[in-house]
Amino acid sequence: MGMFLELVKKRRSVRDFSPRAVEREKIELCLEAARLAPSACNGQPWRFLVFDQPEKKADLVRAAASGLYRTSGFISRAPVIIVALSLRGKILPGLAGRFQGKHYPLIDLGIAVEHLVLQAAEAGLGTCWVGWFNGPAVKKLLGLPKGETPIALIPLGYPAEEKSASPSRKGLEEIAAFNPD
Ligand SMILES: Cc1cc2nc3c(=O)[nH]c(=O)nc-3n(C[C@H](O)[C@H](O)[C@H](O)COP(=O)(O)O)c2cc1C
Repeated sequence: MGMFLELVKKRRSVRDFSPRAVEREKIELCLEAARLAPSACNGQPWRFLVFDQPEKKADLVRAAASGLYRTSGFISRAPVIIVALSLRGKILPGLAGRFQGKHYPLIDLGIAVEHLVLQAAEAGLGTCWVGWFNGPAVKKLLGLPKGETPIALIPLGYPAEEKSASPSRKGLEEIAAFNPD
C-alpha cells in the first residue's frame, strides 16, 4: 500500500486527548499544509486562529460548546483548538459558484482543513472535525468582521489512547462507477 493511503487510514477522529503540550513547530507544520491547499481561482478564502493558551481556550470552549452545543465540550480536553474561518471569496469564484449553485469558499476550506488534519496525523497528532458548535457566539467572542465565518473547530493534541476499529465506510462499488450508462 502506498504511503499516502497508509496516512489516510491512520487518520481517525480523536475525541480524547493526552494533556501533553503540542510543540509549536508541529502546529506550524499543520498550518503550512493548510496554506498550500488548492482553491478556486487560488482565492485562499481561509484563516486559522490557534488557541493553545488555557484561559483563551476556555473562553472559546464556553462560547462554542454551551447549551445545545454541549456535546462538543470534548474539545476542551485538547491542548490546542484551531478555529477554521471561511472568508468571503474573490469575485470571480464567487460569481462562478453562484451561477452553478456551488459555494466554493466552503469547498476550499474543506480541502485546506483536511490537509491540516492529515499532516497532524502524520505528526502523530489526533484531530476531530467539529462542525457542531455555536458559530455566532464564536464570531462575537473573536470580534470577527462580517466576511469571516467560523466553519469548523479542530481540536488538536496527542491522542489519549489507541483507537478501536474505524467506523465503516460505504463500499467502492457503492460510491464509484466506471463508465456508467
Ligand atoms: C464536516 C465535518 C463535521 C464534523 N462534525 C463533527 C462534530 O461536530 N462532532 C464530532 O464529534 N465529530 C464530527 N465530525 C467527525 C465525523 O463524525 C467522523 O469523521 C466520521 O464519523 C468518521 O469517523 P473517522 O473520522 O474516525 O474516520 C465531523 C466531520 C466532518 C468531516
